[in-house]
Amino acid sequence: MTKKLFISTHGCQMNVYDSDRMAELLRPLGYRPAAAPDDADMVILNTCHIREKASEKVFSELGRLRATRREREAAGNGGMIIAVAGCVAQAEGEEILRRAPYVDMVFGPQAYHQLPEMVARASRGAGATLNTDFPTEPKFDTLPARAADSAVSAFLTVQEGCDKFCSFCVVPYTRGAEYSRPVAAILEEARQLLAGGARELTLLGQNVNAYHGEGPDGRPVTLGRLIRLLAEAPGLERLRYTTSHPLEMTDDLISAHGEVPALMPYLHLPVQSGSDRILAAMNRRHSADDYRRIVDKLRAARSDLALSSDFIVGFPGETAADFEDTMTLVGEIGYAQAYSFKYSPRPGTPAAAGEMIEEPVKDERLQRLQVLLNGQQADFNAGFAGRVLPVLLERDGRQTGQLVGRSPYMQSVFVEAPRHRIGRVAEVRIEAGFGRSLKGVLVTPDAAAA
Ligand code: 5AD
Ligand code: SF4
Repeated sequence: MTKKLFISTHGCQMNVYDSDRMAELLRPLGYRPAAAPDDADMVILNTCHIREKASEKVFSELGRLRATRREREAAGNGGMIIAVAGCVAQAEGEEILRRAPYVDMVFGPQAYHQLPEMVARASRGAGATLNTDFPTEPKFDTLPARAADSAVSAFLTVQEGCDKFCSFCVVPYTRGAEYSRPVAAILEEARQLLAGGARELTLLGQNVNAYHGEGPDGRPVTLGRLIRLLAEAPGLERLRYTTSHPLEMTDDLISAHGEVPALMPYLHLPVQSGSDRILAAMNRRHSADDYRRIVDKLRAARSDLALSSDFIVGFPGETAADFEDTMTLVGEIGYAQAYSFKYSPRPGTPAAAGEMIEEPVKDERLQRLQVLLNGQQADFNAGFAGRVLPVLLERDGRQTGQLVGRSPYMQSVFVEAPRHRIGRVAEVRIEAGFGRSLKGVLVTPDAAAA
């Protein structure tokens, strides 16, 4: 019997990947995608714990789901299994069951391979399940093969967890210790994704460049080597990886940027702050100058490399001078895009015990930083007007007849093109660059000549 599944995904790309794999796990049990929660026999909230705002969303969303379930029952449409997955589940599992006892199951990022058993239990009405262990059997070994219909640009988790313990961050607690998947398992999953139509793979890990998975000869393989191996996979056009830590930006990975044509010239390399004092308090274990030197090396290997970063403003103890150091660093590096956040104290992390910066100060700093970053992004995009870029066309655009794809530099590019060109790289003449995207025309509009 077919049942309907709705997954609401928050947070990072790893959660997007995990949600896809949960859907694949539940397929043999008869679950197919639902368009909305009110049409679903099961809803999974895949949650993020990184900042307070993200975490608090869970309880309001659960309240709405409870009401939806009641409406379904009242209308005679059957019940609804409500599940909470992801990093809030891991960090606050018991609290969720206490505040929302109507939830059927709560499980962490390392336990979702046990979903079929948990669903069976819920269907028997056997009471709520709390599953936040870090099981010894790695979940990847028990997950089914990837679905036969991949997105053109697909995620592939190669590494998970983190041992860095940045003083602001919950990830080491929610995702656990660092773990690298073996090379053979990654190559096999890449093969499945490419057979399913993927043309671009983004290798994922909370600390992806710390990758050190077991190679064919039993010895550890670096991310630089893994990239070189994957670049040979038949059908693969493009490779990316995220998220990296500056400390693990090894020479072998840097040189891959100059040597592997499939590796796209875009890198998300978070620096968080431009102040050495704050970097030390964050336990980042590098200085602002170390970061500058890494960027110099990367640009020496690949002169057109576009950079992205994450920034935290208002970290405990951040002075006006510390913040100016961040502004200076941003001015020097020049980012193609970036994410910036106000510091959010997270329970159990060392920084949460520090001296808090007042909210209006944080607001003002964030505002100034974002003006600078948005300006850099707009200038970066505007610089492409008149140039021809290879664009991997991924899906329908906002308007009919329009497709959207990505440039090598990760910009979204809108272009009028027939749907059958989805999944292929097209040469696009850029007409204009905007704040967050580019618009262009096909150099070869006729498909036969493409
Ligand atoms: N407060 C604000 N931002 C945070 N990040 C991680 N933890 C916090 C926090 N406690 C940001 C960092 C990280 C990104 C994923 O989220 O910039 O790189
Ligand atoms: Fe959020 Fe971090 Fe968990 Fe991703 S790993 S969902 S960013 S808390």
